[in-house]
Formats: sequence, structure tokens, C-alpha cells
Amino acid sequence: MCGIVGYAGNKNVESVLLVGLICLEYRGYDSAGIAVFDKGDIEIRKEKGKIKALENLLKEKPVDGHIGIGHTRWATHGEPSQINAHPHTDSKTSIAVVHNGIIENYQKLKFQLQSKGHVFHSSTDTEVIPHLLAEELKAGKSIKDAFLNIFSKIEGKWAISVLFEREPDRVYFAQDGAPLLIGKGKNEYYLSSAIEALIRNSAEVCYTKNKEWGYFTKNELAIFDFQGNPIVPEFKKQELKWTEIDKTGYPHYMIKEIFEQPSIFRKIIEKRMNGGYELNFPEFTLPKEILSRVTRLIIQAAGTSLHAGMIGKHYLEQFPKIQTDSEMSSEFVYRNPVVEGDTMIIAISQSGETADTLAGIYEAKAKFLKVISLVNNVNSTIARESDAFIDMLAGPEIGVASTKAFTAQLMHLFLFSLYVASLKWMIPEEELKALLDEVKLLPSKMDAILNKASIIEKWSKDFVDTKDFVFLGRTYNHPVALEGALKLKEISYIHASGYAGGELKHGPIALITSEVPVVCIAIDSEIYPKMVSNIEEIKARHGKIISIVNEGDEQVKALSDYCFEIPKCSEVLSPLLTVIPLQLLSYYVAVARDYDPDKPRNLAKSVTVE
Ligand code: F6R
Repeated sequence: MCGIVGYAGNKNVESVLLVGLICLEYRGYDSAGIAVFDKGDIEIRKEKGKIKALENLLKEKPVDGHIGIGHTRWATHGEPSQINAHPHTDSKTSIAVVHNGIIENYQKLKFQLQSKGHVFHSSTDTEVIPHLLAEELKAGKSIKDAFLNIFSKIEGKWAISVLFEREPDRVYFAQDGAPLLIGKGKNEYYLSSAIEALIRNSAEVCYTKNKEWGYFTKNELAIFDFQGNPIVPEFKKQELKWTEIDKTGYPHYMIKEIFEQPSIFRKIIEKRMNGGYELNFPEFTLPKEILSRVTRLIIQAAGTSLHAGMIGKHYLEQFPKIQTDSEMSSEFVYRNPVVEGDTMIIAISQSGETADTLAGIYEAKAKFLKVISLVNNVNSTIARESDAFIDMLAGPEIGVASTKAFTAQLMHLFLFSLYVASLKWMIPEEELKALLDEVKLLPSKMDAILNKASIIEKWSKDFVDTKDFVFLGRTYNHPVALEGALKLKEISYIHASGYAGGELKHGPIALITSEVPVVCIAIDSEIYPKMVSNIEEIKARHGKIISIVNEGDEQVKALSDYCFEIPKCSEVLSPLLTVIPLQLLSYYVAVARDYDPDKPRNLAKSVTVE
């Protein structure tokens, strides 16, 4: 949510910042701006809309320099507009600030500053920062002391980058709870909220930690803590390849990521099963004794990751037989749950930066609970703040609507449940082997589904004007119904709700008319006959049935207006397959309605505010 970039070196800063912002555009695309030292003065260019709008402005009014900062915004305080776009400045434009996160006490600070004569132009929380710094400098403080003083005044989770006119050779930065990375090139340093902007230019990267700040020139980097003590920067080799974040010929990241799922699964199987039946999670450092002692688990996550967690609950109760709850992080944090000593928390997060989930971790730690996390970014704050983490191995996910991360999360929750079950001697070896043999077949079954994507693409044209959708599934596929509805809502803006099939008659059936398509997941399972009854009930009310069934199913097919067959597999693993046609449906409907699925309105990847 909001992306920050910075640069000091010999290159043309305007193009370096633009390229960086394009890489971070998935974090927000309401407005964008840059601040650059141009012949010693701070020059600002900012524009409402996507980065393209800023690019056009820069063509009309270019800037020239080698040092600067930039920002792409997801609005929190103040509507998307040119005035609210970052960078923000003090009244003399001698300080320019870009910011990610929220300054929670900004109103109080703004009143104090206004009473001292400071004039504000925007409705943002950010604007207090340059004014606070200006106030400190006016009182004769050094830049260092100015920073140290304001850190104790601002509350919230944030990251900033700052230019000071009086030091035109350097870029300042600071963070408390929002990510900031520094990339090292040859005679140049880069700053970014996420790795994507550093892949092409930085051989090494340093992940700053909470309550760190500093500056860089083209040749020098200095980092300090919030007491002013120097910190030795720790650089790591940057190993991501550019192709991993490129669309590689696909029209959108979302469809690329949907189609990547079989190859991700091949990688997961290779890494986690070593070609055999021995499960291993080398990065997971929690001692086995602690894991096998756990008597209760609470999974906390948000959005798509929560849907994966809801299925994870089934896995953890079925295999290691540990009582498990799955909860929205944003509710978990504030409801003061009852926990006992051997309760453990599992946080699930693709980005590893979601503020709600992070707050859940801090809440758990305050209760002295162990926290393990499942993340797609092992350098993320959530990975760092957990007692141990598992890498979900999905590779960078850029599409705002999460797809490949969901199936990678599910796979890891499944394998982790089997791992804990075997630690606790809860699963017979034969059963374990049979399940893992089935896992090995998943990539080719996913391929088989994706090879039929054009069927769903054709259907999508029929739903261009549809106003409401309903999704139904039961047991393991109830969360898949929720996920299908979420996907459709977020990228095609069609209202959609997911329900457990059994709940239909308790209210939602009132929604059913001939105008409402109902997506029914009806795969082979004990509950199949009940799902068939639900479909009959919808049919009786003239609802349009879109069914997801196993190959060879004739009964539901005969009742359906649209029927998509997936390869046979056990119910427990079925969500890994049933979700794929739903991902495709939401993608193709969004495209048919002429929306950009990679940049859904009002959304951003990596939700770093609560
Ligand atoms: C939906 C989606 C969101 C995220 C949620 C949690 O497509 O992407 O619902 O799943 O914001 O994000 P992470 O997994 O990064 O914590």
C-alpha cells in the first residue's frame, strides 16, 4: 500500500524513479509524484491517476538531476487528487517527504503546528512530517536531532523518505513498521518499499528494520537506530530474476500467475518431499518438541489468506487432530481471545506485510504465545516477527487479486498438517504415502484444467451485464466458494456472495432468480448428494447453475446451464483444483467487462494499514 522509491547516483533520476514506481504500482495507483534535486533546488512533479499520468506530466515539464524520491499512492487520508499526491513539503519547499503507512495522531500534530503558523494544503496525514521537521530545524536543531525528536512524536506504522534542500547530495529515510529496502549498485544507492524495484539494478539489498533511519549519497550509506546509535547495514545478495516479475507475454499478471500454478506445485513437491515421502521444511526453525506439544491452534489472516486458513483448519483437525480456529486478523486483534499455554498462532500472509495480521502477531506475543507464519516473502516483517516461518514458494505475486499464493498456501497447510501428524504419530505410514502420491499428481491435474481455460473465457461473455452472483460449496469447498465470490467482486465489481450449501435455505435462497448465476462446487464426496439437493432447490427457482464437477459426473451436468469438469481427486485435496476455474471465471469476466484485473479500483497489494 503506497510505494516509495529513492535514488542517489549518476543516472538520470527522473527515469530511475519512474521505472521504480512502475515496479511498485501494484501497491497503489491513485496518484504518483517525485521530488528531485534540480540545480540545488527541490523540484516536485505530481499528478492524480496512474504512473502514466505522471509520465505525461514529466514529458511536458521534465526535471534534471541525479538524486530524488518518488511515491505511488493508495489513498488513506484525503481523496485521490493532485493536492493529496506525494511528495508533500514544508511551506518553503525546502523539505520534501514521501510516506507509506499512517500517522495516527496527525490531527493533534496538525493543530499544534497550525497554532504555530504552519499552513497546510492537503488533507493527508503525511503533510505534518515536513512541517514537524521544519519546526525542529527552525529551532536550530541538526537534521539528525530533528529526526530523533519527531520519531517520538509520531504514532502509527510508517516509512518515509525525505529530501532536505540544505543537503542536496543525499536521500534520507526512516521506518517504524512499514518495509523499506536499500539496494546497492556501482556508485549508487536505491531505496524501495519492495524488492521488485531493485531487481534490475541492485546486486545486494539491505532490509531495514523497525525503528531504523539514515541517509545515503551516491557513495555512502549510514543507518542509525531511533536513539541515534549507528547500525552496521547487513546486505544480502539479491537473487530474484527479472523474469519472475515480468508478464512474460501474458496480457496481465493475474492470468500469468493463474497459469504458473502447475510449475509452482512441481517446485513445492520437489522441495518439500525430496522426491520421496520425507516431508521437510528446512527454513522452519521451531523445535519439533514444541510443535508436537501444541494442543490448540489459532490461524489468523485476512482476505484470500484467511480462506486458505479456513481450509487449513480442516487439515489440522483432520490429520494431527489439533483443535484449530481460523479468524480474521482484524477481529482477532481486538477480541481478547481465551488462550492457554500450549496454544500457538499461525499467521498466513502472502506479502508478509499485512498490518492487520502483523497486529495479530503482536497481540499473540503480548500473550506470550508462540507464532509461526506462512509467508511468500521470507524477508518480510511478518517472517521476522514470527518465532518460525515457512516459505510458501509461490514466487512474487504482482496481480492485486491473489491466485497462486492461495493454492501455495493450501498446499503448505496440507503438507504441514501431515508433517505435524507424523511428528505426533497420528498418521499411519500407508495413509501418508497415499496422500503424498496424490499430491504428486496435482500439477498435471492443474494443467488439465488450464488447458480448458477457453471454455470459461467463452462463458464469461454471457455475464458482462450480470449484477449478482452466488457461490456455493460445502466442507473443504465452502472457503473456496468464499474465495470465488471475493475474486469476482474485487476485479469485476459484480456483487457476489459465497455460502456453505447448507445455509442456502436459511436466507440466501431469497436472492435466487433467473438473473442470478449460482456457482456450485459439487465434486465427489460424502456430501455430494446434499449439494445435488441444493442445486435442485436453485433450479426450482430458475437460478442459472454453473457447476464445477468431477469428470464423468452426469447427474449435476444434467441440471447445469454451464458445467466445468475437473479431474477426479480426493475431497481433501479438491480445493486446490476447484478454485482454478473460479479464478479463471473472475479473470475472464473482468476482462469481458473491460476492467484491468491487475489494478482493481480502490485496492492495492500489500495492505500495510489497519
Ligand atoms: C484478495 C487479496 C486480499 C489478500 C489480503 C491479505 O485477492 O489479495 O484479500 O489476500 O489482503 O494479504 P496477505 O496475504 O498479503 O496478508
